[in-house]
Amino acid sequence: MRILLFTGKGGVGKSTTASATAVASAASGRRTLILSTDAAHSLADAFATEIGTTPTLVADNLYVEQVDAQRLFEESWADIQRYLLSVLDAAGVDPVAAEELTVIPGAEEVLALLQLRRHVLSGDWETVIVDCAPTAETLRLLALPEALAWYMERVFPVGRKAIKAFRPLITKAVGVPMPEDNTFDAMERLHAELDEVRQLLSGPEASVRIVMTPETVVLAEARRSFTTLSLFGYRVDGVVANRIFPAIGPDEAPDSWRAGWVEAQTKVLADTEQSFAGLQLWRSDYHSGEPVGVAALADFARRLYADSDPLAVPSGPGPLQVARTETGAVLRLALPFVGRGDVDLVRHGDELVLTVGSYRRLLTLPAGLARLDVRGARVDHGALQVRFEERQS
Ligand SMILES: Nc1ncnc2c1ncn2[C@@H]1O[C@H](COP(=O)(O)OP(=O)(O)OP(=O)(O)O)[C@@H](O)[C@H]1O
Ligand SMILES: [Mg+2]
Repeated sequence: MRILLFTGKGGVGKSTTASATAVASAASGRRTLILSTDAAHSLADAFATEIGTTPTLVADNLYVEQVDAQRLFEESWADIQRYLLSVLDAAGVDPVAAEELTVIPGAEEVLALLQLRRHVLSGDWETVIVDCAPTAETLRLLALPEALAWYMERVFPVGRKAIKAFRPLITKAVGVPMPEDNTFDAMERLHAELDEVRQLLSGPEASVRIVMTPETVVLAEARRSFTTLSLFGYRVDGVVANRIFPAIGPDEAPDSWRAGWVEAQTKVLADTEQSFAGLQLWRSDYHSGEPVGVAALADFARRLYADSDPLAVPSGPGPLQVARTETGAVLRLALPFVGRGDVDLVRHGDELVLTVGSYRRLLTLPAGLARLDVRGARVDHGALQVRFEERQS
């Protein structure tokens, strides 16, 4: 099964490109589902039809779903939120403020991805396409379970047992209610499910496509997304440059406004090619109208992908690899556009704490590496390499 995510700056054409790719997938005979994690009804707009919160058939083999994040939110988060509210209440925070405090920005988006997990596990689909929110924020939030892994495995079960045994006593002593069993269950379930989503999305059959328009600020953002996605272990398989102004033909009247745009875009496209060298770069021209509805989207996909296979499984290594050496191992993490001074690396027991700009990832070391010592690290050619060696006794 192929999982494809589309991300990019606001308004660049993510929903359109994702929808067009879904149409192409279905037309090739694959049972295809496209989901939107966006609260705005963007897929309904792209397909120009009403879309339900369960898979809605819009063409042969093609189903569209508008994820009901609110419902998922209530199912997965309600127990935890209720508990947090009771704590805040005991702490004297007024209920309206408390309600706001317990809603993590982006939480609904992340929970929407739980729906992706359900669909992937159902085995009903050959292609699942996700129209994501702008930039890589949502995918970054998926690193949360990884960051909490240590706590969830070691502290959580102990805390849970202790609290179960001494709940009335602790509650009295600290003055705030202690979580009940159902809160713990909800936390454990949410943690496990989110971790599974992250694993699915960083697996070999999944990849992310960055959509952009050929403008300098948009390219800058696309480059940053590429770095962040790699840092968190997601594989980017290509870039879609959308809304390219067609050059003025020899028979057309001169038009300085369009000529100016063509020139500026040509320059940014050259920079884009250089920035993403080695990745597929698909180009889509500025259509004369909005590509809305199945027929227009099919045409959009034909012009965008031409002879290439839009669903090709990415070849080559993913962003994170571990290679054995004679005396230990080398961990390699692709960090495009990142220089030596931009990365901070600290080892913390079984984890590497990696900081790149304002992003931090707690990378849990595979068991084989955790027992080795870090002997050195360097950044070059857009990758971080960490050298591990057997512990000297
Ligand atoms: N190549 C194109 N030519 C003409 N119109 C386009 C093209 N690509 C997208 N559009 C139109 O531009 C608008 C924005 O596109 P779309 O909704 O796909 O962007 P988006 O990145 O999903 O936006 P958002 O960030 O709001 O989700 C839509 O009206 C769409 O039909
Ligand atoms: Mg959209």
